[in-house]
Amino acid sequence: MKKDKKIFLNELKSGLSKNNKTIPSKFHYDLLGSKYFEKITQQKEYYLTKKEKEILKKLSKKIPSMFTGTLSFIELGSGAADKIKILLNKRVKFYIPLDISLDFVKSSVLKLKKQYPKLKIKPIKIDYSKPFKIPKFKRTTKICFFLGSSIGNFHNNQEVNFLKNIRKSIGKNNYLFVGVDLIKNKKILEKAYNDKKGYTAKFSLNLINIINRTFNTGLNIKNFYYKGKFNNRLKCIEGFLVSKINQSFFLDKKKFFLKKNEDIQVEVSNKFTIKSFIRLSRVAKWKVEDYWLDNRKYFAIFLLKS
Ligand SMILES: C[S@@+](CC[C@H](N)C(=O)[O-])C[C@H]1O[C@@H](n2cnc3c(N)ncnc32)[C@H](O)[C@@H]1O
Repeated sequence: MKKDKKIFLNELKSGLSKNNKTIPSKFHYDLLGSKYFEKITQQKEYYLTKKEKEILKKLSKKIPSMFTGTLSFIELGSGAADKIKILLNKRVKFYIPLDISLDFVKSSVLKLKKQYPKLKIKPIKIDYSKPFKIPKFKRTTKICFFLGSSIGNFHNNQEVNFLKNIRKSIGKNNYLFVGVDLIKNKKILEKAYNDKKGYTAKFSLNLINIINRTFNTGLNIKNFYYKGKFNNRLKCIEGFLVSKINQSFFLDKKKFFLKKNEDIQVEVSNKFTIKSFIRLSRVAKWKVEDYWLDNRKYFAIFLLKS
């Protein structure tokens, strides 16, 4: 069995063996999953992308004077590489997108290469939920980006280890921009994760197809539905696939049962306050240099220095 498939199998078995079943959200991103995510970002209810871009546009004017010398842009979970376009300028020599969905990233950066023929682009496949290394560059200031509220997708405070990992890996006097979704009215949050056209549902249900294709489980997406709910105690949105019937399936000879109405948590999106994100950055030993908000204070971008 290939390494990636084995990791997927082990993480699936571990998540589905819990009393409250879970599947890590990183497994959503096959080519189709990445395309569905793009559709989600274009939906009216999904304010996150629009608000983050609003802030990035303001930042694009400031970035050239904020940093000196030649720059390397490193983006974690870059996806469509759409936001980085807003910030690119002539001083950026390298752009390194790091993502689990490498095929999707490769096709996205083809367009970028046409727009910026001198920019050196090198996509790399990583799983940032595990320890990883940022590539080394000589004589450039390294500026990392972690956008799209992906910092909210970690379980059990693992975002602290993720932030520590980047800090150690890029060395002193380099930078990280983080896009952070802020706690707000529950209705606005739940609408964003239950778009009317159903792209969030399609994105989540696609996970069943990915599992089927990889492990031949015989599961049918028609026997599941999606729901996104705000958990007020934990201040996060949780995305669930709910079983419509009693059903069972095998994963590597192990039998799993799903009861009618049983939930599988397939996404967590933690929401922050300005204070809670500053606290988190400091625990991971980053210096908070600055932060910017959109006009409605829905979203924040933080600049951290190592
Ligand atoms: C929520 S999307 C954000 C995409 C883009 N940065 C944006 O702001 O629209 C998450 C991105 O991170 C990637 N991703 C998710 N989990 C990952 C992991 N554990 N390691 C590396 N990339 C991951 C996905 O493939 C996807 O491109």
